[in-house]
Amino acid sequence: MKTPIIAPSILSANLARLGDDVDAVLEAGADWVHFDVMDNHYVPNLTFGPAICSALRKHGVTAPIDVHLMVEPVDGLVPQFIDAGASLISFHPEASRHPHRTLQAIQAGGCQSGVVLNPGTPLSTIECLIDEVDLILLMSVNPGFGGQSFIPQTLDKIKQARTLINASGRDIRLEIDGGVKIDNIGEIAAAGVDTFVAGSAIFGQDDYPSIIAQMREQIAK
Ligand code: DX5
Ligand code: ZN
Repeated sequence: MKTPIIAPSILSANLARLGDDVDAVLEAGADWVHFDVMDNHYVPNLTFGPAICSALRKHGVTAPIDVHLMVEPVDGLVPQFIDAGASLISFHPEASRHPHRTLQAIQAGGCQSGVVLNPGTPLSTIECLIDEVDLILLMSVNPGFGGQSFIPQTLDKIKQARTLINASGRDIRLEIDGGVKIDNIGEIAAAGVDTFVAGSAIFGQDDYPSIIAQMREQIAK
């Protein structure tokens, strides 16, 4: 298994002092910054765009920024996030007319590429794209909001995705997003996830080092 990555979702950060809150969570031991982009079209919520990503880079954030695009259409925003300093860019294949081309555009821009599968999207969607992905992101809630409950059926999908990745022989991360908490992160890891997004579970606590250390303990069990 790859080295576990913890990627706090800034959707639940203190947006009035985002730079400082991101610094705090990275100093507390987080690996990546998970950056949720919502357009009030593909999902019924509205967040932030490339200007905020670029502002985090100017603020001094050097950690990987893991951009999760919940937007439709996707392609226009890809070059903007590449220019804004994104490290990884993931999108929902339903929201791109040509997902294979979108993946190539992300990689051509020097970013790692990811495909996101909603709870209602079958794993088979990934089969024709697997040679172009660096990361598969499984949604364990329906996208659009932080603070929702983990959908338990996702555990089976994780196991199937892990089998698919291992069979591909490719170097692909398996990321989970939605409802990840201290009391379920262990079984999520055991099912085959190596990259963990958590928003409310981390930013909802005052003691970031403690919650991140507890998550790592559960993952390692
Ligand atoms: C949901 C977002 C998630 C969200 C996770 O659409 O993609 O990244 O912030 O939040 P929690 O961890 O609170 O479920
Ligand atoms: Zn996300």
